[in-house]
Amino acid sequence: MDIVTVHNLKKYFGKGENQVKALDGVDLTVEKGKFTAVIGASGSGKTTLLNMIGGLDTPDEGEVVVDGVNLSGLKEKELAVFRRSKVGFVYQNFNLVPTLTVKENILFPLSLSGSTPDPVFWEEIVELLHLKERMNAFPGQLSGGGQQRVAIARALISKPAIVLADEPTGNLDSRSGQNVLGLLKMSVETYHQTLVMITHNLELAQMADRVVRMEDGRIRG
Ligand SMILES: Nc1ncnc2c1ncn2[C@@H]1O[C@H](COP(=O)(O)OP(=O)(O)OP(=O)(O)O)[C@@H](O)[C@H]1O
Ligand SMILES: [Mg+2]
Repeated sequence: MDIVTVHNLKKYFGKGENQVKALDGVDLTVEKGKFTAVIGASGSGKTTLLNMIGGLDTPDEGEVVVDGVNLSGLKEKELAVFRRSKVGFVYQNFNLVPTLTVKENILFPLSLSGSTPDPVFWEEIVELLHLKERMNAFPGQLSGGGQQRVAIARALISKPAIVLADEPTGNLDSRSGQNVLGLLKMSVETYHQTLVMITHNLELAQMADRVVRMEDGRIRG
């Protein structure tokens, strides 16, 4: 079953000679429960595509459907609800709140919608990502790998329809990048969580169920 369908997606930036075709007719389906890696040269449109799937930006043309929701018809407020209820984001720079503890950071998106996690799932995720002993630490007291494990827990805890990760190991040394990605892969497999991850690291991309390559705003296999 496909959880994401992208059809003829176009996004152009600028005008005339300076126009950049960031997305130039992208068709893509993402299978539920699978780990898809997106690779491609800098500027090929990877982040633009991920942002469209996550409802962070709107296309000029084409369609994005995520878990039965067609994003084209949604107004800004509805997109915010979509993001909160359906998407977990993981970024290169972790995007944690420095003044909140590890526990508060993980719970932050849920708290926005006034909900609390399933206690069993909470225990499992915290164990799986080796965060149990660090609940009261602040992000600044953790290594880069530790901070990214917090961001991953935060993305997973709401059991979103899809987790979108934009170069999650980009700020980590290769060893901790491998460790973090190993844990991410194990968590998505354990919970049949759909994951789309951008990476420049071909070795890490090989850990995915499927590798999608972008070139000049299009999918090239
Ligand atoms: N907000 C924007 N305004 C103008 N141009 C943009 C904007 N966002 C992206 N672009 C351009 O669109 C193209 C695709 O950008 P995008 O960030 O999607 O590439 P990318 O594949 O993620 O690259 P990288 O690997 O460097 O992160 C680039 O030429 C970029 O400069
Ligand atoms: Mg990018």
